[in-house]
Order: sequence, then structure tokens, then C-alpha cells
Amino acid sequence: MRYQIDKKIAFIGSGNMGEALIKGITGAGVFKNKDITVTDIRRERLEHIRRLYKVNITADNRDVVKKADIIILSVKPQIIAKVVKEVKDLVDRKKLIITIAAGVTINSIQDMLGKKARIVRVMPNTPAIVREGVSAIASGNAASEVDIKMAEKIFNAVGRTVIVEESMMDAVTGLSGSGPAYVFLIIESLTDAGVNMGLPRDVSKLLSIQTILGSAKLALDTGEHPGKLKDMVTSPGGTTIAGLHALEDGGLRAALINAVEAAAKRSEELGKKG
Ligand SMILES: NC(=O)c1ccc[n+]([C@@H]2O[C@H](COP(=O)([O-])OP(=O)(O)OC[C@H]3O[C@@H](n4cnc5c(N)ncnc54)[C@H](OP(=O)(O)O)[C@@H]3O)[C@@H](O)[C@H]2O)c1
Repeated sequence: MRYQIDKKIAFIGSGNMGEALIKGITGAGVFKNKDITVTDIRRERLEHIRRLYKVNITADNRDVVKKADIIILSVKPQIIAKVVKEVKDLVDRKKLIITIAAGVTINSIQDMLGKKARIVRVMPNTPAIVREGVSAIASGNAASEVDIKMAEKIFNAVGRTVIVEESMMDAVTGLSGSGPAYVFLIIESLTDAGVNMGLPRDVSKLLSIQTILGSAKLALDTGEHPGKLKDMVTSPGGTTIAGLHALEDGGLRAALINAVEAAAKRSEELGKKG
């Protein structure tokens, strides 16, 4: 296997998102497994990660930062300050820090590490587990083009990436960060809808999931405006327009706009608290 990046990478915190990224980058062969080290305060998490992904593990955050070129901060937002303070004397211009913590600004980390610290902030989402995630990448003033390219390479291994201004991160969190939960709610609702119309639950669930997956793939592959793709299914006086009428009547469009707005505002509030 050809490895894409010849550097040492560390993950501080290997919970849900840390594991998703480790699974993706080991699966894609972005780094050599011997160059990946993972820390956590939970011994059983570390054993689980080593067993599944054959990477190095340690409970020592300082040791791993000392040796790594790239450090991914993948602990909960409220733990970030504690971890950064623990390792700050070991971070110099040679090391790239990538934070995935929701609501934690690049500035707040630079306040602890110094204005010259190379920091990139990324907002991934959970479909990264199956390498179909989407991650938004924003960079601090001390990070270079090469640093952004590095983040793109890492996060492209678990899906797709977009580059945004950091000021857009709350909107990204409300849309794609929280978005998988909206889609799961829609899948659950469509499944219930099929059951309501007499379909067996397993049949209804598969029809719902594959309809969403297939529609998403069609939109992505063709690049067509979703309105045009919708019109392709909607014949005059037919079944689909009757269903669409009911959805508009129920306010689906406004409900989704409100959901993203509410989640983005909550992200902003949590960021100010932290
Ligand atoms: N999950 C998502 O959908 C998602 C999406 C985008 C971004 N994120 C971001 O990703 C980050 C991680 O989220 P998550 O859902 O993966 O959280 P998580 O499952 O709680 O994972 C964090 C892991 O770090 C461990 N930990 C706590 N303190 C530590 C320390 N001092 N040193 C090393 N490890 C430590 C935790 O152990 P304990 O459980 O014992 O504390 C836990 O195993 C968060 O900042 C979140 O905002 C998550």
C-alpha cells in the first residue's frame, strides 16, 4: 500500500469522532499505522482502538505531543483548555494543531499557545465512520497553505471537505454537523409512514434509507439543481405532486430552515460560554 503522508500524527481523545477519523485514515492508508498514536483517559477505549486499527496507544498526552508532527484535538470542547495547557510548552512552530471541537475558536487556543501557533479548525460529521462524512476547514492566521492542504488530505480520507471562513463554523455546525440527526429523523419518519400504509417495517426501512441514499447520490453525481431533479419525478396531476403538496402544507421547508438556524445559534451560545 502507498501511504500519502510521511509524518507522525497524534489523536488526543479517541471517542466517537476520534475513532471515526482513525478508522477512515487507517482504512485509506493516509499515514503508516506505526506513525499514528492515540491517547485517551479510558484504558478500554485505547485497547479497543489498538485491537481494531493496529495503531500505537498511550495514556500520556505529553509524550505523544512531543513526538508528533500533527496533533488532532478530539476531546470534548470543555476539555480542550485542560489538554492544551497540559501540553503547551511542547508545541512549537514545527507542529500543526488541528482542532475538531465544536464552538472552540482558533483565537481561544492561540491565547494559550501563542499567536504563532499553527492551528486549523475542522468541523467533521459522523458519517465519517463510513467515509462519507463532510468536513468544513478553517485556518488561523499562522497556518499556511500547506497546513490547509494537509487537513484536506486527512479529512478527504473520511469523505469530502470544504474550506470556509472561521466565522461560518456555527452555520456549518447547524447544517452538516447536526445534519445527520435531521436525516435520521426523516428516515425514521418515512419508515413509520410506510408502516402506516401497511408495509412491513424492515421493507419500509430499506425503502426509506435507499431512497435517501440514491437521491443524494443522484444530486451529487449529476450536479443538477435539486428543484430540477424533483420536477423529474413530478408528473402533472400525479402522486408525487400530491405528496409534495402535503409536505409544503406541513411546513417541511420552514421546519428545516428553522432547525439549522436553531442549531447554529446554539453553537454560537456554547462557543461564547466555553
Ligand atoms: N460526535 C460528533 O458528531 C462530532 C461532530 C463534529 C465535531 N465533534 C467534536 O469532536 C470532539 C470529540 O467528540 P466525541 O463525540 O468523539 O466525544 P467523546 O466520545 O466524549 O470522545 C472524547 C474522548 O476523549 C476522552 N478524554 C477526556 N479527557 C481526556 C484527556 N484529558 N486526554 C485524553 N482523552 C481524554 C474521553 O474520555 P471520557 O469519556 O472519560 O471523558 C473520550 O473517550 C468534540 O470536541 C466534538 O465537539 C464531534
